[in-house]
Amino acid sequence: MSTASVDEVIADCSDLSLGDLPSEETEVLETVDDAWKSIARDDSTNRVDLGISANKVENTGKLRKDKVKLSVNVVFPGSSDGGGADTGVSDAVSNTSNGNGGKSTSVLKPSPSVGATLENHMDSPIGSGSSENSSSSSLIDEAWELLSKSYVYFKGQRVGTIAANDDPSSETLNYNQVFVRDFVPSGLACLMRNDADVEIVKNFLLKTLHLQGWEKRIDNFTLGEGVMPASFKVIHDPIRQKEVLQADFGGSAIGRVAPVDSGFWWIILLRSYTKCTHDYSLSELPEVQRGIRLILNLCLSDGFDTFPTLLCADGCSMIDRRMGVYGYPIEIQALFFFALRCARQLLNNEHDGKELIERIDKRITALSYHMQNYYWLDFTQLNNIYRYKTEEYSHTAVNKFNVIPESIPDWVFEFMPLRGGYFIGNVSPARMDFRWFLVGNCIAILSCLATPAQATAVMDLIEERWTDLIGEMPLKIAYPALEGHEWKNVTGCDPKNTRWSYHNGGSWPVLLWLLTAASIKTGRPQIAKRAIELIEQRISKDGWPEYYDGITGRYIGKQARKNQTWSIAGYLVAKLMIENPSNLLIISLEEDKKIAKPRLTRSASWTY
Ligand code: GLC
Repeated sequence: MSTASVDEVIADCSDLSLGDLPSEETEVLETVDDAWKSIARDDSTNRVDLGISANKVENTGKLRKDKVKLSVNVVFPGSSDGGGADTGVSDAVSNTSNGNGGKSTSVLKPSPSVGATLENHMDSPIGSGSSENSSSSSLIDEAWELLSKSYVYFKGQRVGTIAANDDPSSETLNYNQVFVRDFVPSGLACLMRNDADVEIVKNFLLKTLHLQGWEKRIDNFTLGEGVMPASFKVIHDPIRQKEVLQADFGGSAIGRVAPVDSGFWWIILLRSYTKCTHDYSLSELPEVQRGIRLILNLCLSDGFDTFPTLLCADGCSMIDRRMGVYGYPIEIQALFFFALRCARQLLNNEHDGKELIERIDKRITALSYHMQNYYWLDFTQLNNIYRYKTEEYSHTAVNKFNVIPESIPDWVFEFMPLRGGYFIGNVSPARMDFRWFLVGNCIAILSCLATPAQATAVMDLIEERWTDLIGEMPLKIAYPALEGHEWKNVTGCDPKNTRWSYHNGGSWPVLLWLLTAASIKTGRPQIAKRAIELIEQRISKDGWPEYYDGITGRYIGKQARKNQTWSIAGYLVAKLMIENPSNLLIISLEEDKKIAKPRLTRSASWTY
């Protein structure tokens, strides 16, 4: 173990490559391409976040998810413990950042989790991590057993996992189906386990692709060719005496909305499968290439848009009921960006491939500029919006969307810490939805839609607002809840989405895997460990519920299913990543240096 000052660490790591890492007996076939490095420096707080991880490929071509140890310890000048005590409290002294592009001179203390190394996590082999104790390992065993009971078979092959294996006496609604979005954590758990179980993921990808090929009609209207199902189930056809698949593309869903997220998750999971197995034969199949192209055609077609974001109906993603997330919701924009970057890696150049790749590149650049500029909110930017002039005309307008400052809700001023920031829920003409949504923010980090500084700021916000966003049972899907008149108007008096319940500020254990991935990626695994510990205290006793209710998430959700598969799989994925951070590579993307860097002039408090 070496100790170094901030400057020395930056200098030491600037030309670090895989060759510097211990190679043991396996040959390192991959280079820096397959490693991720993150070095973030904040002069104002004297801190360095450093993370490095790598996959090794054995001569057989099989991926070996080895730990890679990086023994660097950082001593922060003026601090005795290398990163601040774990008090969860920050003493904001002053923040004099200006809104005119001036450099921030904030003198905040380091966040509690900043400065700790990934060393402990990198060091511990799967199943024997330092956090591991017998109750945690029995919980893991229980989770694997429950996950295996959720497998859905079609003609003898496993093709997915059922949404919930609840008590049969309770109303099942459509929880007896395989949901595309719900299968993602199940699939990742199977890919990340030591003896990767890749078959179920491959079958799932091919079966859902097959369903995409169906003609999709709702009443007299035919849906776009690329639309992927929200869910499917296996039924027995008594006439033909065989098993058949039945899919829902939104035509049976509550609200009749097509799932915009399904196609994106499908592309993302396909890239995870390929990354994990190095089996390119699946993604290169002509029908798979066609499936990717059809999904992209739905979102890259020309229209009346003036923004690169994707226009959506309410309820088209995980929040599949009316919740005021229509327009340009963060979850879909982040998934769109993620899927574009994954497709970029998977598409081949044949036929019109080159032209499509050019369109993808242009959209990636435009989308990241738009999101990083207009969705980003921190203390400085909030203050800018608060002082906005309205009715500005022409391209010189500062207040481009004509947001009326009076529309800023009171809670944001309280909620916004001096350190931290986040991508807000929605931006469209005269409308900013200031609510926090966890999925969109974590996906922005995993896909590198967030700049490294923004990613750090999101994690800062989570720490600073731990009680609000994590509470007693991780994690809040959205914050804050809609109440009273707003709830009536926005949800249409939805009795399932009452305040602090379900999609309206409820707490969803499945989100643990996303938080864990984002924390490891930003070099802050302790954040995930704290959340995992909270989940471990209750989740099994409570029967692995779908969601929790209440302002701190204390109560099992009013209508929550038990044995909800993605709550189980989400926990497993979180554990698999925290115990072997190189598993993160299966789901996370590295920064693409070629993406044009947006000029960020309006808010500088997160610019180092
Ligand atoms: C609910 C959730 C949705 C999920 C489905 C199956 O409808 O809102 O996100 O996919 O249940 O678990």
